[in-house]
Amino acid sequence: MRVFVTGSQGRIGRYVQAQLEEAGHTVVGFDQVSGDEIRDPAAVRAGAQGCDAIIHMAAMLADPKDDPNAVMHVNLQGTWHVLTAAETLNIRRVVTFSSVNAMGIFIGESLPDYLPIDEDHPCRPGRPYALSKYLGEEMCRLFTRRTGITTICLRPPWVCFPDSYQRIRQRWAENPESEWTPLWEYGAFCDVRDVARAAVLGLTCPDPGHARLLLCADDIITSGPASRELAAKIHPTVPWRGGEVYEQQPFRALVDNSRAKQVLGWQPRYSWREQA
Ligand SMILES: NC(=O)c1ccc[n+]([C@@H]2O[C@H](COP(=O)([O-])OP(=O)(O)OC[C@H]3O[C@@H](n4cnc5c(N)ncnc54)[C@H](O)[C@@H]3O)[C@@H](O)[C@H]2O)c1
Repeated sequence: MRVFVTGSQGRIGRYVQAQLEEAGHTVVGFDQVSGDEIRDPAAVRAGAQGCDAIIHMAAMLADPKDDPNAVMHVNLQGTWHVLTAAETLNIRRVVTFSSVNAMGIFIGESLPDYLPIDEDHPCRPGRPYALSKYLGEEMCRLFTRRTGITTICLRPPWVCFPDSYQRIRQRWAENPESEWTPLWEYGAFCDVRDVARAAVLGLTCPDPGHARLLLCADDIITSGPASRELAAKIHPTVPWRGGEVYEQQPFRALVDNSRAKQVLGWQPRYSWREQA
């Protein structure tokens, strides 16, 4: 398959590119660092010409120092240009990177209505990056409804790199409170190698129409306490819906990844317990 990959030079993009090539696909990269501009619709269309599928990652991230107007321009126009290029060129599948931030219950935006979190949880993003990811998902949903082109929106939490595990352990050793101060993100993470594999599987999995998938490791990041214990300690007022499975798997993630497993045929391989 010839795959148009935006954000191909980014931290996740490099892993996606490598895994695509390993799987025998041809990558057509598109990234600002190579002089490509996602805000230019003609450039996006020209880049995607002759491709069979798209993985869209080019975006501005949740950096509070960034101009909110720029975040909206790059993230929303970028997604729009990718979708319209797909339609014009009859590319039938787009895998796009959203984020857990689309839900508005990460980066300290608000408390969840319940734990564990799943895709049925209401979305209420307010900050520019989070809002741009949510609106990007909505754009994909409505685009699929009209065109029938498959859109798969991946929602990773914090993406962990091979050297991140040791770095976190070290940070906790220096400052134990940093595990939940200033923020506790439900211990959610996904290893970049698992994230990249999910994106690659999104190209060939059975057609789900439009899907939004939480991509999370099977377990939580923790210095020791189990998932239920951490939830009760840090968010005692949030209703618990975890059930008995947390007695059998006490470190089970607080972000439900079962839909991603089912739709993509995906299984995360990297766990906090084995890596850290
Ligand atoms: N890193 C994480 O923890 C995380 C978590 C959830 C979702 N995501 C999403 O995953 C995707 C990839 O993230 P990443 O961590 O690799 O980020 P990154 O910043 O390392 O990569 C983004 C890439 O997009 C490119 N880009 C930015 N603006 C562009 C423009 N105007 N035109 C063309 N290219 C442009 C950048 O040059 C960069 O290479 C993003 O969509 C991000 O929102 C990342």
